[in-house]
Amino acid sequence: MTVHISAEPGQIAETVLLPGDPLRAEWAAKRFLTDPILVNRTRGMSGYTGTWQGQRVTIQGSGMGMASLSIYVNELIRDYGAKTIIRIGSCGGMQEKVGLRDLILAMTATSIATPSSAIMREINFAPSADFGLLQAAWQAAQQMPGAVHVGGIYSTDTFYDERRDLTEQLMRHGILGVEMEAAELYTLAARHGARALAVLTVSDHLVTGAALPAEDRERSFEAMVEVALKAAFV
Ligand code: HPA
Repeated sequence: MTVHISAEPGQIAETVLLPGDPLRAEWAAKRFLTDPILVNRTRGMSGYTGTWQGQRVTIQGSGMGMASLSIYVNELIRDYGAKTIIRIGSCGGMQEKVGLRDLILAMTATSIATPSSAIMREINFAPSADFGLLQAAWQAAQQMPGAVHVGGIYSTDTFYDERRDLTEQLMRHGILGVEMEAAELYTLAARHGARALAVLTVSDHLVTGAALPAEDRERSFEAMVEVALKAAFV
């Protein structure tokens, strides 16, 4: 047991899918895993362990933002021995070519700062995905009907961001989408020798203002979970 995860030693799999929303962790576990067992409920941040095609998988909520994710990822890797962590989440589209429901595989995650910035000091670290996971996810996504994009995303601490100039610069530099967790996930994975990837579904769009209706979300999120599971076990 750790401060934020009540699972017994051995109850967390080496492969962890990490949605921000604990209710999405429950939905994904019940939809995709065989015999999912609830292994964590501390602070309502549900985690389930089960099997997918005979392979053990944990699906654990991370909460919103890098500060929250940092707590769960530190404990998952350092205390429970997680080796592969794939974030599954939503993002806001930032390029015209990126449509609602499209998948984004985050090759890199730019940020202003992460919880790790304090120890990086003057270093402007470039958080990047594990290449093997990225390649496997790309291949898995080719079998899906929807579009998939690979490239840089932006991890922000500010959902209600009023820095329009900043958004503009990021768009000019080809950033595909915005979310709130990947940069710290990639940094922690690099530090502790784990593999990490963020597979994201575009749920809203900063250019067009479009947003997925609630009833559409579940179906669009299925492709993301499937790609993440296939990538983990290539
Ligand atoms: N901003 C930040 N995070 C997000 C967004 C957004 O527009 N959409 C989904 N996650």
